[in-house]
Amino acid sequence: MKTFVTLLVTGTPGTGKTWLAKKLSLLLDYAYFNVGLFVKKAHLYSSYDRKRHTYVVDEAKLARRLIRVREALKSASRAPKTAKKGIIFDSHMSHYLPSKCSDLCIVTSCSLKTLQQRLRRKGYGQAKVRENLDAEIFDTCLAEAQENGHKILKFDTTAAKNSDVKAFAGRIRELVRT
Ligand SMILES: Nc1ncnc2c1ncn2[C@@H]1O[C@H](COP(=O)(O)OP(=O)(O)OP(=O)(O)O)[C@@H](O)[C@H]1O
Ligand SMILES: [Mg+2]
Repeated sequence: MKTFVTLLVTGTPGTGKTWLAKKLSLLLDYAYFNVGLFVKKAHLYSSYDRKRHTYVVDEAKLARRLIRVREALKSASRAPKTAKKGIIFDSHMSHYLPSKCSDLCIVTSCSLKTLQQRLRRKGYGQAKVRENLDAEIFDTCLAEAQENGHKILKFDTTAAKNSDVKAFAGRIRELVRT
């Protein structure tokens, strides 16, 4: 029986990481951690790429800080009042965490048509939409997570419903045996 579980949710922007991660955190009673917000608040970026409208993140520094966050929550989980069974890191950078610190890495995906609609709705410009569609076509996050040695589970959010997330949570529970 594992005492504290670490889940990573990664995937191309717009593929539904936050949608899925928040639902899983409630179903599994794990803490939810938004890595993107943390990067901004803790100034873990080295610069802002104006052309690509994105922060340039120091991957090694981010991984070290996420390990510390995980350790802090793991210690807090020993106190009954704040007990959480695990943590879910939500970000297209969450797979930068070393595989030895993670139980499962979930990679979200969706159809390209859906992705395009979602990114436009988020207000992304044409170049940014194209960049992310390319990332999805080339499975960039999945390939990086595999390269990093993570144990991977895929989840397609295109037409996913709450019942699908519930079934998926059951699969995760079995895999991490909590
Ligand atoms: N299965 C689904 N059913 C309905 N809406 C969905 C589903 N999955 C995702 N969405 C919606 O698609 C949009 C994009 O999802 P979300 O914000 O979770 O993506 P993300 O991967 O977290 O993106 P980012 O990397 O920009 O944070 C949101 O409006 C979300 O509510
Ligand atoms: Mg998100």
